[in-house]
Amino acid sequence: MSLPPFDRTDQTQFTEAPNSTWAYCQPLDSTPAGRAWLEGEEQGWQVINTAEYDRMMLYKLMISGIVPRPIGFVSTISEGGVENLAPFSWFNMVTSWPPLVSFCCSNGPARIKDTTNNVKNSKGFTVNIISEPFVENANVTSIDSPPGFDEWSISGLTKAPSVHVKASRVKESAFSMECELFQAIDIIHPTTGECTSTLILAHVKYIHVRNDMLTERGTVDPIKFKPVARLGDISYARLGDIFRIPRPVWATEESNIQTATQRL
Ligand SMILES: Cc1cc2nc3c(=O)[nH]c(=O)nc-3n(C[C@H](O)[C@H](O)[C@H](O)COP(=O)(O)O)c2cc1C
Repeated sequence: MSLPPFDRTDQTQFTEAPNSTWAYCQPLDSTPAGRAWLEGEEQGWQVINTAEYDRMMLYKLMISGIVPRPIGFVSTISEGGVENLAPFSWFNMVTSWPPLVSFCCSNGPARIKDTTNNVKNSKGFTVNIISEPFVENANVTSIDSPPGFDEWSISGLTKAPSVHVKASRVKESAFSMECELFQAIDIIHPTTGECTSTLILAHVKYIHVRNDMLTERGTVDPIKFKPVARLGDISYARLGDIFRIPRPVWATEESNIQTATQRL
């Protein structure tokens, strides 16, 4: 399949929200875009019983439906001092106080991932965010190499020292977190008893953020940051347009909500 080249123009911009005139209680069929979306319902639904679905098909369905996923690029070190680097998209922020992030490592039929073993043993690792300029470098570290292989050696990425943990952080990453293990939860399948994966809760002890990414408000500028996300199969995504939607506040909106609901 021939594809157009990667668009190097900074296409990400702030735009209006998709339906910026939306008002309380307004249903989807009141706009052309909403009606077009609802037309798809005419083809019906599949209701999938996960217990009866093929395991690989379930994986493919879930990783393509639960999207876009952020990616935690995890740098660990073994008890023997071998460094390891791998991306994980079953990854997210859990809470900011205490600052916790999570990622989940699945177990293959024959082996437990180096990341799981290293995190459980060393209790100090880094989680780095991937930006467009080094997504190929990061992707290569997902190689199914033999246990104990140091993926840094093929990545073209640079180890930068951490201030608190033994594992390196990725110098090319504009946002890296030095973490300690908060909790490792082995996921046991309730019917087969098999330990399919390990959910890592990580306590973020230090954050390294590049000055040029920071706004005056102390937040990361998404346009400069160029974070990548994971979709289904081997697909990645970049940011498209960004829109802002005000968070409704009951104290100021109550009367508007009453007026709208009385009209129904
Ligand atoms: C973008 C991306 C996201 C991934 N997300 C996960 C994940 O969330 N969980 C997982 O177990 N494997 C995930 N993988 C696969 C691991 O990166 C891969 O198994 C890697 O070899 C593990 O390395 P290790 O054995 O050195 O820990 C992902 C791969 C890619 C390319």
